[in-house]
Amino acid sequence: HSRPNHHPYNKSGSTPRQNPPSSQGLSTRRELYERDFPVYKQPVEVGCFSLDSERRFFNDSRQMRYYVEPDRNPNFDLRDGYKDRFIKRDDSVKEKLDHILRWILANRLKLSSKGTTASPCALDVDVVTWRGHLTKLLTSPYETKEGWLLAVTRFRGTLYISEVETEAARRDRETRTERHEEMMYWGYKFEQYTCADNAHSVPDTGGVVNTNEAFCTVVQTRLADHRLLFSGEVDCRDKDPDAPAPPACYIELKTSAEICTPKQRSNFHRFKLLKWWAQSFLPGVPRVVAGFRDHEGVVVTVDTFPVSKMSHLIKNEHNCWKPTVCMNFCCDFLSFVKRIATEDNPSVVYLFSWEPHRDVTYSVHRDSQYSFLPHWYVEEMTS
Ligand code: A3P
Ligand code: MG
Ligand code: MG
Repeated sequence: HSRPNHHPYNKSGSTPRQNPPSSQGLSTRRELYERDFPVYKQPVEVGCFSLDSERRFFNDSRQMRYYVEPDRNPNFDLRDGYKDRFIKRDDSVKEKLDHILRWILANRLKLSSKGTTASPCALDVDVVTWRGHLTKLLTSPYETKEGWLLAVTRFRGTLYISEVETEAARRDRETRTERHEEMMYWGYKFEQYTCADNAHSVPDTGGVVNTNEAFCTVVQTRLADHRLLFSGEVDCRDKDPDAPAPPACYIELKTSAEICTPKQRSNFHRFKLLKWWAQSFLPGVPRVVAGFRDHEGVVVTVDTFPVSKMSHLIKNEHNCWKPTVCMNFCCDFLSFVKRIATEDNPSVVYLFSWEPHRDVTYSVHRDSQYSFLPHWYVEEMTS
């Protein structure tokens, strides 16, 4: 019923790929990645997990929430409860890939084709990571402010990619203003106004917002010749029991400043829609529901953005982002990582670093502060 997607997920096949020239680093210049859209297979959900109010892991969907469509002009006060009904996750605690690794151990039989209880085989994937790390890679050719650090370890043939906080990001986190802290709450409060705990109930807008709680999907897909396994937080799902299977029934919720001028509209298209597209396209989440708020944090309008139409909305913008550039850069970065990270050793980290207007570079670290695969994981995977 919807018209063909300009950048469909490929069902099969492959396209030839050429790597941009590089001496030692990898360039993020957009022009190098303007070629045919790479094969990106329809992401398949292979499992899910939940994190409860104390950030404990459960290998199930207990934290799933159900979307309750709000009024188009709802007047949701996003500031309500910030002072007295808010429990904030401690973001100085770095969980690295731990929750995904717990999920892998609990589900390793369905991941390895040759696995048996007696002798489970290595994972049949090339890359294990968080969706959010891939989002950063996708948007790098257009990013002018924030760089990144990605730690990579090759273990039993699989590349594990885990973000390391940059010095700049740590400074920003430790010096956030009260206004910024409050604005970070607004996105979660919007989720509370639009989500219920089950398909038959209504949002509990007087309850506590606890950002430890999360429902995460685990998906498998392939980008060119890179077999990917990644996890990402999902805000809610369509409550209709006849809705399509995950991830097609999932909905991403966002808040954004109300758009009043052509300049604001252009900035929204150029910067916000890029991040929204990259985050949801990766796991195959088809829609983003956006609450537009005024300066006092009141949501005045709610709009739905189909992910497949985002790249059409931007075509009137001069020099705007292109999905193919994002995907080709990510693909070439993963090829670059495969070429560099050759030693299969859980205590070796290849640290890839990038700053805007620079090439991606790397350094190698043995038994350092950067090692991130926990002993409990390495031991259970080796035994
Ligand atoms: P908004 O994006 O609506 O402002 P997500 O949208 O990915 O589900 O994240 C939910 C909310 O977490 C965001 O809502 C925002 O409030 C907060 N958040 C997510 N990523 C953030 C980041 N990098 N910095 C600050 N806040 C962030
Ligand atoms: Mg979320
Ligand atoms: Mg969201």
